[in-house]
Amino acid sequence: HGTSRINEQGHLEIGGCDAVELIRTFGSPLYVMDEALIRHRMRQFMEAFESTNLPFQVAYASKAFSTLAMCRIVDEEGLHLDVVSDGELFTALKAGFPPERIYFHGNNKTPDEIQMALHAGVRLFVVDNFVELSLLEHLAGQAGTIARILLRTTPGVEAHTHNYIQTGQEDSKFGFDLASGQVQEAVRQAMASPNLRLEGYHCHIGSQIFEVEGFRLAVQKMANLVSECRESFGFTPSILNMGGGFGIRYREEDTPLPVSRYVDAIAEAVRSTFPQHVPEIWVEPGRSITGEAGTTLYTVGTIKEIPGVRKYVSVDGGMNDNPRPALYQAEYEALLANRALEEPEETVSIAGKLCESGDMLIWDISLPKVKTGDVLAVTCTGAYNYSMANNYNRVRRPAVVFVRDGMADVVVERETLEDLTRNDRIPERMKKEHV
Ligand code: LLP
Repeated sequence: HGTSRINEQGHLEIGGCDAVELIRTFGSPLYVMDEALIRHRMRQFMEAFESTNLPFQVAYASKAFSTLAMCRIVDEEGLHLDVVSDGELFTALKAGFPPERIYFHGNNKTPDEIQMALHAGVRLFVVDNFVELSLLEHLAGQAGTIARILLRTTPGVEAHTHNYIQTGQEDSKFGFDLASGQVQEAVRQAMASPNLRLEGYHCHIGSQIFEVEGFRLAVQKMANLVSECRESFGFTPSILNMGGGFGIRYREEDTPLPVSRYVDAIAEAVRSTFPQHVPEIWVEPGRSITGEAGTTLYTVGTIKEIPGVRKYVSVDGGMNDNPRPALYQAEYEALLANRALEEPEETVSIAGKLCESGDMLIWDISLPKVKTGDVLAVTCTGAYNYSMANNYNRVRRPAVVFVRDGMADVVVERETLEDLTRNDRIPERMKKEHV
């Protein structure tokens, strides 16, 4: 995928950089991000929408992978940015991302976060619930501003991979319930407030979605809501945010649709259900922008074979840099980056180095005969890996490198041992002379 290929040495090469060299230069394990592929994905979304001739806006969902350099790319490519916390907002602002292209999501924004976002002048808030609605109204009033908002709805459509379910009332912590009339009440309240300006609706139906039916259904539900609230309150939304969730190919058998198929389906549904007053369509993909662009390089350490049972190959990372297999039974592909042309010879399972039996990255993968010192490349790790990384066992988070046209730039330094204790404090009464 992307700019990956196998070079003359039989090594994996990404963005013109030899993976074995990358490990030598920057250490192991290492997150490598293919910058060209990230940009390509962003452009695919923009171009797909442009060709629908409908008004649109594409935001990148920070939660998938957010760093200062990533925010620079999002800015350069002209996308908007979805943030869910003060940390994601801080990162964006620090990177010089224009606040008028940032919007704030989340089901429990704190007063501090709301004030920070109001002060920064973010484009809008996606309001999730009644408590937030009154809190925001109060804080906007205090700040002497008008907060622009979308209302997050739970449309009762939930899609995952290749199926979707429809429920009357979705049992979710997110958003105003559609079926029970909560959204309608929120519209009424928002319109009555001089400190809030309601601009539209939001819904998000799931993640890693492989079909368009769920999006179509969600548009229909939104259209019903729109006509209902137009009749009841005379409110016509100028924005309809359909969330993210577009699937990617983690493994050979995954069958995501091309970006344009999702976009066309949403656009078609909007066109046919909104004969007049077509709202601006917003989407906020995360995984489909960065997921396939990421590769994690590890060094193989110990190897244990239980005769007739299994061969465990341990690498120098694991569930701290990629918690997805342990959390979601997520499955990944991998190859030996230093012997990428060799034929598979054995079936092994890739274990992490953390102290937990569940710390397995891949079960049963065919590889050439694996040796200590080999470089293992796990592909498709660009979304929800670095962003969900942790320090379990006080293992340091790897560095992140962006590669492009043979250039490799560190965008996140590897954590140091000192970083791990930076915020630790020893109470006076426990102090030892030399510490
Ligand atoms: N918008 C909203 C409101 C969301 O909740 C999400 C993801 C997105 C956009 C972006 O969705 P994407 O395009 O990335 O599918 N940690 C999980 C995924 C959690 C997704 C949460 N919300 C994973 O590793 O699979």
